[in-house]
Amino acid sequence: MSISRAPAFILGFGLFSCIGQVGCSPPARPAPQSPAPERSAEPAVKAASPASLAWLDKQLSPDQRADLLLKAMTQDEKLTLVTGYFGVQQTWNHYNFKEARPQSAGFVRGVPRLGFTAQWQTDAGIGVATQREAPPALERTALPSGLLTAATWSPPLAERGGAMIGSEARASGFNVMLAGGVNLMREPGNGRNFEYAGEDPLLAGIMVGRFVRGIQSNRIVATIKHFALNDQETGRDRVNVQIDEAAARMSDLLAFQIAIEQGDPGSIMCSYNLVNGAYACQNDWLLNQVLKRDWGFKGYVMTDWGAQHDTVLNANHGLDQETGVHERGKYVWLDKLAAAIDQKQVAQARLDDMARRIARTLIEKGAVDDPVEPGPIDFTAHAQVTQAAAEEGIVLLKNQGVLPLTAKASRIAVIGGHADVGVLSGGGSAQVYPPGGSAVPGLGPKGWPGPIVYSRSSPLAALRSELPQATISWQSGTDLEAAAAAAREAEVAIVFVTQWTTESVDFSLTLPDGQDQLVAAVARANKRTVVVLQTGGPVLMPWLDRVAGVVEAWYPGSQGGPAIARVLSGAVNPSGHLPVTFPRSLEQLPRATPAGMALPNDAHFDVHYDEGAAVGYRWYAKKGHSPLFPFGHGLSYTTFTRSKLAASVDGGELKVSFSVRNSGKRSGKDVAQIYVSPAAGGWESPQRLGAFAKLELAPNASQELTLTIDPRLLSNYEPGRGAFRIAPGVYRVTLASSARDAGQTVSVTLAERVIAPK
Ligand code: BGC
Repeated sequence: MSISRAPAFILGFGLFSCIGQVGCSPPARPAPQSPAPERSAEPAVKAASPASLAWLDKQLSPDQRADLLLKAMTQDEKLTLVTGYFGVQQTWNHYNFKEARPQSAGFVRGVPRLGFTAQWQTDAGIGVATQREAPPALERTALPSGLLTAATWSPPLAERGGAMIGSEARASGFNVMLAGGVNLMREPGNGRNFEYAGEDPLLAGIMVGRFVRGIQSNRIVATIKHFALNDQETGRDRVNVQIDEAAARMSDLLAFQIAIEQGDPGSIMCSYNLVNGAYACQNDWLLNQVLKRDWGFKGYVMTDWGAQHDTVLNANHGLDQETGVHERGKYVWLDKLAAAIDQKQVAQARLDDMARRIARTLIEKGAVDDPVEPGPIDFTAHAQVTQAAAEEGIVLLKNQGVLPLTAKASRIAVIGGHADVGVLSGGGSAQVYPPGGSAVPGLGPKGWPGPIVYSRSSPLAALRSELPQATISWQSGTDLEAAAAAAREAEVAIVFVTQWTTESVDFSLTLPDGQDQLVAAVARANKRTVVVLQTGGPVLMPWLDRVAGVVEAWYPGSQGGPAIARVLSGAVNPSGHLPVTFPRSLEQLPRATPAGMALPNDAHFDVHYDEGAAVGYRWYAKKGHSPLFPFGHGLSYTTFTRSKLAASVDGGELKVSFSVRNSGKRSGKDVAQIYVSPAAGGWESPQRLGAFAKLELAPNASQELTLTIDPRLLSNYEPGRGAFRIAPGVYRVTLASSARDAGQTVSVTLAERVIAPK
């Protein structure tokens, strides 16, 4: 039986197609395999001898323990570890294991005979999600979107957020969190951009890596995903991404590489799409060569839900665990892999390697010795964590003397975006249901990937409590005349606009539901209009010149209301900076819309990433485009002065030192950005982000810093050598406040250097 998650209607320019997690007709697969016997029942129970329990000795290393465990396991037990089922209890799920956590993403049976844990898998990057199929949902703390966390440019904050949601995962009985999304933003309309960390491999890699480290500090496994080049949702299980190796290694793959180095994730999830002709989950180059050989990844590779295609190719090309099985006889490695091994299509050693990787990882990360148990959650403490993140990642994009509101305005009109009751979140498998349920029930698609969920955290109520002396009126924004009238009577008008985005659909960059007209009407009525955006990523702003202020609040999480209000009131000095470029028009993009949007739902198609590694601001710099807002941009209520820039080579590494002073009147946080470029050219773009640092300074205080540039960001990848190489010559080093800021520049001469794979 299959589950339909294929409502056919248009959202923005995104056509819902059959690309849900389950039930989509799988893309054409290689020749059918010979039918395998059904053996998906409980593994045969064989009594454990004392010797077979030797692996439990905590004095031994994870490698030694995994080896001993492997020796003690029967073939069925090994196959058990590599076969993952859908976790939801539903009639369409043939495997409603009573031990699975209700409505969770995944479940892998343990080996009780040997004391080896089951694997309970939950989504995702914003917090503990619930699969949408049936209430009641788990109600958990929602972090802000991944893009907002990236906009903090604060690795410690990312780690703290990861630690918080990881603790909720553990307390909810999960030992594998499917979180750590690091796909680069190549398509501003990608419905999952909110789950990721922007367009730059260094920033995204560091932020997601630290996030993963936070999750795993709870002695559970985190999963970096979706490997790789899964940069659009349109036709995600059919699109064949064409990119040359060097470009991939210097962009999307570099983001994964850095995140893996920083976070040491236990698992990697391979994606639905094809890369250069092979499905990502059976892509020898991606899995065996890049990930396992070149990067030395010791964890295990799991499929995205339903992304397995051909048992033999999956196994031989590097997959270690299939997931999301819910149909008897379909995929089910337990059966098909066993048959493939019997028929000598897959070596026994490959199954041993898969089982060993999984066992070793769960031992190493602590999930075996410290079993997960549902337990209490400190929601009050966690609310502070999510609010702190939101307050640092909200970006002040434009401010013509209208913000902060403190004591400047006694009459304020708040309009639109359901700001009277809550803040928006992104949809799909990452949906976290916040305490109390949605503030605006009944919105969005009834089936997958709905519903639209608003956290119960009202910016209007928070503003009223921040500014008790002000009179703050409310208009829903559905009546343009009433909204304009309220704006006319106020000293400042604040318009909240929203754009819901979700897994499995790509979106238009034009705000939906006539909200551009709403902003224009309010701005006509009051010059002191501030727009607060809650969007999944960049949007177009045809009204930009007519408003006095713009704040990008992304999806700000379960404490978004107070976080937005405190930025507006000035209780918080904004310090978020864009992790993505906002285009001025669609013509500036390498592709105006994601590939395949006009094709039928079952079409297979190619997308050629001709921009190569020139992703985001690198593309704009190469083309000389001036965006609406550049990567790295973000205003503050104070000012910073940067000086003493110097670059030198020390022990072969490029070190950059500088000083930052808070030259304004209030405390604030600056993000110092170092961009690098070769004087002789020869890169995909004239600039790359080489390093960054966020620092907090009191008025008049200054700080000197020295940052090291990752040598890969000074290199090109040379496939012939299988390595990055710095070409000898002169390089420019720029200290700037965004990718478009001229900042200050010094030059430095670098020697040739080849950076061997680890
Ligand atoms: C998503 C994954 C998710 C999985 C399990 C898939 O549709 O692409 O990110 O972890 O479902 O819910």
